[in-house]
Amino acid sequence: MMRKLTEKKLVLATHNAGKVAEMQEILAPFGITVVSAGDLNLSEPEENGTTFVENATIKAVAAAKESGLPALGDDSGLCVHALGGRPGIYSARYNEPKKNGFMYAMEKLNEELGDSADRSAHFACAMVIAWPDGETRSFEGRVNGTLCWPVKTGEHGFGYDPMFVPDGYDASFAELPAAVKNAVSHRARALKMFTDACL
Ligand code: IMP
Repeated sequence: MMRKLTEKKLVLATHNAGKVAEMQEILAPFGITVVSAGDLNLSEPEENGTTFVENATIKAVAAAKESGLPALGDDSGLCVHALGGRPGIYSARYNEPKKNGFMYAMEKLNEELGDSADRSAHFACAMVIAWPDGETRSFEGRVNGTLCWPVKTGEHGFGYDPMFVPDGYDASFAELPAAVKNAVSHRARALKMFTDACL
């Protein structure tokens, strides 16, 4: 029998307020109280894993040990198929030095793609639940799409959203309303896998 979450309180192993709000909304109907690593002043461990699941596990295990509560860690990024999956786990770091939001990273990706006929990509998100005793369960969600150029800047989203057009739509994640993105996104899918399996 795979372990379920019987505790009614969960730590979100993230310091990102946007992600906390998004996850809080999805978990509220299950009667689970959510606190963030930021609220509890937990330390931020070094993300030195080589996969999304490894990095999400590092965050979840550290938060569970430090807080004594079950913790949910996540890690996500953009994988471009013609570039062998890059930037992948380096998606955030790809934008250093930070200039004009994520324009720097998106321009770099577009240059690397050159005139490649294959502009397909996917966003991936790993969610890992860790208990204070060290047990973990992991889930991975994905959304497939195509990278557009020029980017389609909208009023929503963050990161690489203006460059990503999800399959089945003509608009980018930055143009689509949050409710649409949250119905198909890698993060929403990973979280749904977690709630289906553990709650
Ligand atoms: P992390 O999961 O906070 O480590 O985020 C990794 C990076 O991946 C972010 O800084 C973004 O650049 C990118 N990323 C992850 N999810 C999304 C998304 O939904 N839209 C756009 N960019 C994303």
